[in-house]
Amino acid sequence: MINVADYLEAAAAKVDAGVWCYFEGGAGDEVTLRANVAAYGRWRFRPRMLVDVSEVSTATTLLGTPVASPLGVAPFAMQRLIDPEGEVATARAAGAAGVLMCVSTLTTSTHAEIAKAGDGPRWLQLYVLNDRARTIAHITEAREAGYSAVVLTVDLPYVGRRERDLRLGFQNPPPNLHLPYANLFENSPALTWRDLEWIRAEMPLPLVVKGILTREDATLAVEHGADAIWVSNHGGRQLDGVAAGLDALPEVVDAVAGRCEVYVDGGIRRGTDVLKALALGARAAFAARPFAGGLAVGGEAGVASVLSILRDEIELGLGLLGCTAPDQVARSHVEPTLPYDLLA
Ligand SMILES: Cc1cc2nc3c(=O)[nH]c(=O)nc-3n(C[C@H](O)[C@H](O)[C@H](O)COP(=O)(O)O)c2cc1C
Repeated sequence: MINVADYLEAAAAKVDAGVWCYFEGGAGDEVTLRANVAAYGRWRFRPRMLVDVSEVSTATTLLGTPVASPLGVAPFAMQRLIDPEGEVATARAAGAAGVLMCVSTLTTSTHAEIAKAGDGPRWLQLYVLNDRARTIAHITEAREAGYSAVVLTVDLPYVGRRERDLRLGFQNPPPNLHLPYANLFENSPALTWRDLEWIRAEMPLPLVVKGILTREDATLAVEHGADAIWVSNHGGRQLDGVAAGLDALPEVVDAVAGRCEVYVDGGIRRGTDVLKALALGARAAFAARPFAGGLAVGGEAGVASVLSILRDEIELGLGLLGCTAPDQVARSHVEPTLPYDLLA
């Protein structure tokens, strides 16, 4: 097990196909799912030499919170489907590594249970439910468990049509799986920018808006008080045929023009992918499936191993690029390969 691909292959072999389909699959023809990974192959590095890189640190801050790595754990639902301890195991591994973990509304562990797993930077991923009172109660519970920001996911007015799940009979929500805060079908499809204003006003924590893919929505998010924008297509699981996360990043970064932090996810499988995201203007990147692979293969130890592999890859990549910290990675450290050259 020396890289993320090894973990994903081992997880696919280990976990029941009728469950792993939910973790691995995307929507429709999975064009966007594939594009997320492929986008990283269309940028190459421009490393700088003869820089003193005897001390390299991957540490940074996200919304003021110190973290050990510019790669965080993206929210992924229902982790007890692939490990008996689920989110608690992931939280222990991420906490020990000092890595930010974003906990899904569709967690199979309570926030109190996750808090008991130990300290660690944690954010709550929020689905606004049809029931507003339960939404507020959910945020309050996460705050009491020490979570330091709310990540509102806005790309799921409806659940994407995931054909692998249909073919293999994956039932969502799965029967007999306890989801303490909600299931997907309680998510509000009537959500608008007015609701974002409502959350902003009700809630004292920093607000991250996850699922933005256009300059238009990035501008609106900033105008509505977002503290950070998370560029994402939900891992290719929602509208098939949208841009890869990395491809949508530059226009969002341009529109935001330094007014808030910008993150990106989708298709990160290598530390060098994270460095490309930083070069294109992201403050941090997030990944889900790599950690799902680690959790499925080895529980807490598996997540810890994937975290350490990716951290080492980021550190080595920084050094070889001629950078000693994430914030030194600049636009000049990458250039497009074909076909972007032709489009330019
Ligand atoms: C199995 C699975 C469950 C997910 N559950 C959620 C969720 O509950 N809330 C959410 O905002 N995003 C969810 N996502 C999307 C991830 O947060 C993230 O945007 C995406 O998976 C990143 O792509 P990657 O898996 O290629 O790293 C889920 C993704 C997967 C693969």
